Amino acid sequence: MIRTILSGLGPAQTCFLRPGNGTEKDFAAARDITMTIPKKIVLLPGDGIGPEIMRAAVRVLKDCAAKFGRDFRFAEFPFGGCAIDATGEPLPAETLKACRAADAILLGAIGGPKWDAVPLAKRPETGLLALRKALGLYINLRPIDLHAPLRGLSPLRADRASDVHIDFVRELAGDVYFGEHRLEADPSGERATDTGGYTTGEIERVAQYAFARAETRKGRVASVDKSNVLAMSQLWRKTVTRLAADHSKVKLEHLYVDNAAMQLVLAPAQFDVILTSNMFGDILTDLGAALAGSIGLIPSMSCGPGPSLYEPIHGSAPTLAGKDVANPVGMILSAAMMLRESFGMKREAEWIESAVDRVFASGIRTPDTVEPGTTKVGCIEFGERLHAELLETVSHRGQDA
Ligand code: IPM
Ligand code: MG
Repeated sequence: MIRTILSGLGPAQTCFLRPGNGTEKDFAAARDITMTIPKKIVLLPGDGIGPEIMRAAVRVLKDCAAKFGRDFRFAEFPFGGCAIDATGEPLPAETLKACRAADAILLGAIGGPKWDAVPLAKRPETGLLALRKALGLYINLRPIDLHAPLRGLSPLRADRASDVHIDFVRELAGDVYFGEHRLEADPSGERATDTGGYTTGEIERVAQYAFARAETRKGRVASVDKSNVLAMSQLWRKTVTRLAADHSKVKLEHLYVDNAAMQLVLAPAQFDVILTSNMFGDILTDLGAALAGSIGLIPSMSCGPGPSLYEPIHGSAPTLAGKDVANPVGMILSAAMMLRESFGMKREAEWIESAVDRVFASGIRTPDTVEPGTTKVGCIEFGERLHAELLETVSHRGQDA
């Protein structure tokens, strides 16, 4: 049996294919077979604007299936606040079972004020962390790309806003997120403690991914830590430095997180891949999203040994829910990322991404991306315009690799 790493699949994913003599034709045939196998996609729309943006993304995937002859099988499950309402649990056992058996998972967003008073252990966010943990999702890839038609939205000065393409690789399964959270009595009132840490192995596996990613890009990794204060950051820096020796083509630099925040605003084009821990990655990727003009634009992939999960990085935006004002683009680009990274469907992903850019360039804008001289539309209308744009074209620019 030959073991083939399909181009376009993330470093964490490999495919086992039938024997062949390794010719180009064999590889092409093997790729075609994997493309036509039905893909089981679990949908977790969640709360707030989650269901609205999920509808828009599923429509795009159905367009894609029709146009390219792909077979996507969707199954929807409760997750987050709506699951608490329905079952008392943010991550019901049935939902987790379906996720484990999926080829990929699409998540909208979870949480909202309705569940703020729920004890920490049962909050929607705790369900999200439990899902990440249960699926072993330790890599979180968050691309920050400034879309050319949206340059004017960036709070950056024009000279700083050009050529910004950053891949954040955020560690997703460790840090204070997964330590003990304790509240106890104290003479002054109460004392709250959160613990967290990293092992060598946890740092190595995510750093390997970041180095591999950089090798396919500009070959630069900026590792962000707080090693002037934190023990876990010292282990982080030592481990990443050691691994760099195996990646001679990658230029590694280290930044303290406070400096990284400043550099991202002052000179973001210097960055290629930014590797960082769970908490720092959560904070810096919101900053990165602001540079792109709106957090509604940014997709993400979380992966580990099993199925990957794709979600926009924004939250459930409860104040926007039900008003048809949400931006579905982060969700739609997450679906495109799923096609490329989990299914090796590069051509399909580019078809979607380029259509999104053309809709923006034509002046059709969601409320968070509107500029003078453009036309403001709601989530549903944006989906309609995108649908029309998609049907208009099948891009043959990027053939499957
Ligand atoms: C994110 C979110 C989550 C996180 C919350 C909802 C737990 O902010 O995915 O960035 O902190 O990881
Ligand atoms: Mg966040």
